[in-house]
Amino acid sequence: MKKVGIIGAMELEVEALKWAMQIRRRVEKASMEFLEGTLNGTETVVVRSGIGKVNAALCTQILCDCFEVTHIINTGVAGSLKNEINIGDIVVSTDALHHDVDVRVFGYPLGEVPQLGCLAFPADDRLVQLAVNCCKEVNPDIEVYQGRVVSGDQFISDKGVKNRIIENFQGFCVEMEGASIAHTAYLNHVPFVIIRAISDKADDSAEMDYPSFEKAAAVHSAALVEHMLPVI
Ligand code: ADE
Repeated sequence: MKKVGIIGAMELEVEALKWAMQIRRRVEKASMEFLEGTLNGTETVVVRSGIGKVNAALCTQILCDCFEVTHIINTGVAGSLKNEINIGDIVVSTDALHHDVDVRVFGYPLGEVPQLGCLAFPADDRLVQLAVNCCKEVNPDIEVYQGRVVSGDQFISDKGVKNRIIENFQGFCVEMEGASIAHTAYLNHVPFVIIRAISDKADDSAEMDYPSFEKAAAVHSAALVEHMLPVI
């Protein structure tokens, strides 16, 4: 039977889902509260992982080990890495990578974790298509893009840093959890997709834009996730 794990890093990225859910069980692990129940008629586990790659990886492994989820969706906000992707638009991951991994000294491409044999972790094609189609239905006024999500333990708010990430990785958006959720899902053979609404442009305006737009962006991404659950 399908059971979908839904991860948001921050409370505002999951609070609407928690409200909409019929909760059967609450489990605390690694200082995270996992809510198990049904959401839009679908068996789900909703959890706030906390910010950053370590929290997100831990959270994903717990979803695999203790809840045996069959699919993983990461919902939240991100900084845009493309001129045409504006605040409020949505990016659905085709794949995800760590922009802050660098073992080039031993011949690995920038971003590749040694000895895994893959630079970017591919998202599940079917989940990607479902997310894109659902986005057009739920949020017809919002543009939806499919592309690479890049993650690191840094909030990007500098044009120079942003441009370096774009040159090196050709990402569509940048955030702080997606690649480690993807990495953990990949190692556990669980299909995943990352859905991120743009809250800022990851440049010198990010510090101003982020607080103004994060709430609306987070709500849009969560609404899309809720809508796609029955068709997974
Ligand atoms: N999440 C939202 N905006 C971000 C940014 N600019 N950098 C990293 N994570 C983000």
